[in-house]
Amino acid sequence: MGNFVSASILSADLLNLESEIKKLEEADVNMVHFDVMDGVFVNNISFGIPVLEKLSKASRYMELDVHLMITAPLKYVKAFDKAGADIITFHLESESDTAETIRTIYEETDCTAGLAIKPDTPAEAVFPYIDMGMLDMILVMTVEPGFGGQKFMDMSEKIRKIREYADSVGEYELDIEVDGGINADTADIVKKAGANVLVSGSYLFKAENMKETVNILRAEI
Ligand code: DX5
Ligand code: ZN
Repeated sequence: MGNFVSASILSADLLNLESEIKKLEEADVNMVHFDVMDGVFVNNISFGIPVLEKLSKASRYMELDVHLMITAPLKYVKAFDKAGADIITFHLESESDTAETIRTIYEETDCTAGLAIKPDTPAEAVFPYIDMGMLDMILVMTVEPGFGGQKFMDMSEKIRKIREYADSVGEYELDIEVDGGINADTADIVKKAGANVLVSGSYLFKAENMKETVNILRAEI
């Protein structure tokens, strides 16, 4: 299983999204991480469906990795699928029924399904949903969701437990994504624990050499 970098568009120059997408593709980034915030599930409001539609037209090589930080994800998964999402990840702590939302993404959209957990939610909470065999990814938040540029919280123990559990469930190739405070140092910590999809916002967009930074972040350890 390889490592992948998902660039958080929240840290991009939002006035020049098209050229930002081009820059990411030239730097060989694997995915665009698209943070949707509704001002209720988290204390911030970001962007939504019309912006995603434009992004999906501008991006040719990268997967669109949509992270829903919203109260009622079930209500919107089909709309995000239609707008161009490739991966839809929603929060276990949201108000939608978790199993039903996973099943809807899996059966009624062309997207793969991801389940996200906040720093206070234990690893064990995702095990029953891994058992469904419909999840491609678990997103372990390494900050409280809501804002870019926050300090990394070490979730190694949690990542390790999820990786162990997924490995124990037969042939399961589960991606484990981490989101928040990822830089060259923290990337090593999360990869050692078993994460393989690294979201990077402020660190990546501030990098002098984006391509080199992408390669450092996803290097095998
Ligand atoms: C936080 C978001 C993150 C954020 C990451 O709620 O989910 O995707 O943009 O940004 P950095 O890498 O700057 O912590
Ligand atoms: Zn995110």
